[in-house]
Amino acid sequence: MARIVGIDLGTTNSLVAFMDGERPRIIPAATGARMTPSVVGLDARGRLLVGDAAKGQLTVAPERTVAEVKRLMGSAERVRLGERTYSPTEISALVLRALKEDAERFFGEAVDEAVVTVPAYFTDAQRQATKDAGQLAGLRVDRILNEPTAAALAYGLDHLDKEQTVVVYDLGGGTFDVSVLEMYEGVLEVKASAGNNRLGGGDFDRSLADWIFEEMERTHAVDARRDPRLRARVLSAAEEAKRQLSGSEAAIVSLGGIAVRGGAPVSFEVEVSRRTLEERIEPLVRSTLESVRSALADAKVEARGVAEVVLVGGSSRVPLVRRMVAELFGKEPRRGVDPDEAVALGAAVQAGLKTGAISAQTGIMITDVCPFTLGVEVSATAGSQIVGGMFSPIIPRNSTVPVSRTEIYATAGDQQRVVEVRVFQGDARMVRNNVFLGQYTVEGIPPGPKGSQKVAITFSYDINGILQVTTKVLSTGKEASITIDKSPERMSIEERTSSAARLDREWAPGRPAGAAASTLAAPTPAAAPPAAEAAAAPEGELLAAGKRRLAGLPAAQAAELGAVITALEQAMKAGDRAAVARHEARLTDVLFALE
Ligand SMILES: Nc1ncnc2c1ncn2[C@@H]1O[C@H](COP(=O)(O)OP(=O)(O)OP(=O)(O)O)[C@@H](O)[C@H]1O
Ligand SMILES: [Mg+2]
Repeated sequence: MARIVGIDLGTTNSLVAFMDGERPRIIPAATGARMTPSVVGLDARGRLLVGDAAKGQLTVAPERTVAEVKRLMGSAERVRLGERTYSPTEISALVLRALKEDAERFFGEAVDEAVVTVPAYFTDAQRQATKDAGQLAGLRVDRILNEPTAAALAYGLDHLDKEQTVVVYDLGGGTFDVSVLEMYEGVLEVKASAGNNRLGGGDFDRSLADWIFEEMERTHAVDARRDPRLRARVLSAAEEAKRQLSGSEAAIVSLGGIAVRGGAPVSFEVEVSRRTLEERIEPLVRSTLESVRSALADAKVEARGVAEVVLVGGSSRVPLVRRMVAELFGKEPRRGVDPDEAVALGAAVQAGLKTGAISAQTGIMITDVCPFTLGVEVSATAGSQIVGGMFSPIIPRNSTVPVSRTEIYATAGDQQRVVEVRVFQGDARMVRNNVFLGQYTVEGIPPGPKGSQKVAITFSYDINGILQVTTKVLSTGKEASITIDKSPERMSIEERTSSAARLDREWAPGRPAGAAASTLAAPTPAAAPPAAEAAAAPEGELLAAGKRRLAGLPAAQAAELGAVITALEQAMKAGDRAAVARHEARLTDVLFALE
């Protein structure tokens, strides 16, 4: 049986897991890390870096590094890395590719299929883009799984005998999802999901960074927002402080070299209290509770009737989040489910169900829902007036999937020969307040007075959350069907082929030795950089700056700096990009601290 891995493609971190017998297990990266930062960058030689290596250069080279690309999935936006641009799908493909290589190194054989998770609240276009990213990375993605459903699977595997209502609250780096499930006899039935695919820990960071920007401006008259590197350093310091505040009441934010005055570097230090953070993020956390209430209402479950609240996602470690969730449910959330790993482990369980690695005797089964209402735009007559832009739902939100529903519409005008089918997702009465998914034209309608011709529109929403629309002109029996995502943002086959070739060319196999499995198609080697460019590489510059600074330092400081320099030199010699990036980042910090 071919191997299928489970992948949690996160906004901040991504993980890959597999079924090790009857248990799901995380596959570590070559560095031993269990999570790979979802960060992609170009190194000074123009080669692509993924994961820790890219994260390491986020603050030193923000202009050629990108994080949180998941937020852009399915959009037509381009991501700039230095002089080049990429689609969000391509950037995600690089992250997936790194995970694929980790899995191949781990197994010593090729891996070409994955179950990939997405936020339950991801739209059709975002799901399609995720599938495309898999394909670009050389992974078949037949199955897309909702993140909270995956977490529920990981939890459910250990509680098969229970009969209870469970809520999974997943607050990650960039998205929020909540699902309400009924468990009985090994069946996990998702009753309702809700969420916000643009809310997560990254927003907490930005909110705290805004406070730091203001403090810096007030005390030092420095506007860090205007300098991309300083801005990136503030954001990273904000994230660090936020994490510390999960464990302590106060944290110190300390940044060296925020400006140069009279030839001397200026440094900045401020203490931030947990209270300050909580005041700022409270409205964001409150908004997640609204989604929770809405999911509970749709599932017809009372907050007090929920037996277990499972918190997943790194941001669920924020004490305010735990507190507010506990208050809503009147009980402490469950501990013992790893908030970082549950989604990836659940994806592996789903992969195991697909390959049959999980035997039928285990008896676990899961059903899911479509978390939003899907429908079309219609016109309605009000007296003698025709009002356009009205939303007519076809699939109500939280229907169990797969689901297929048909509605019949009549022509709105006399002698009407075409019908424009415009598809939307949302719950607003007017389509302008919903999310546009796509459109197409039904032609060849026999002319007649208005209302005389009828068109049946069928929506089929599959287990992966992909929508297929079929229309039938009743008088002629003529049918037409499209997968909704023929959107302009979707890559064509030619684009996919050329993009895959480009990524191959630019991919830096500079991951730790042995990372590239022999079963992979050999990437076209990147052209050797011109000597001048190599010499000007920032790693060389930074190292030289470090060595210059070493002279005349007091012993204790010289020892610290010397140790970082040695580590960096060794990593450079070994060609270990991840370590180089890490030591560079440390060297930058040490140099700043010395100023
Ligand atoms: N101890 C902590 N306290 C507060 N926040 C934390 C802590 N640890 C991690 N985080 C935050 O959790 C977020 C990352 O969580 P996670 O890895 O679950 O996200 P993700 O899966 O990448 O994102 P998503 O699921 O939204 O796509 C980051 O914003 C990080 O700052
Ligand atoms: Mg996540």
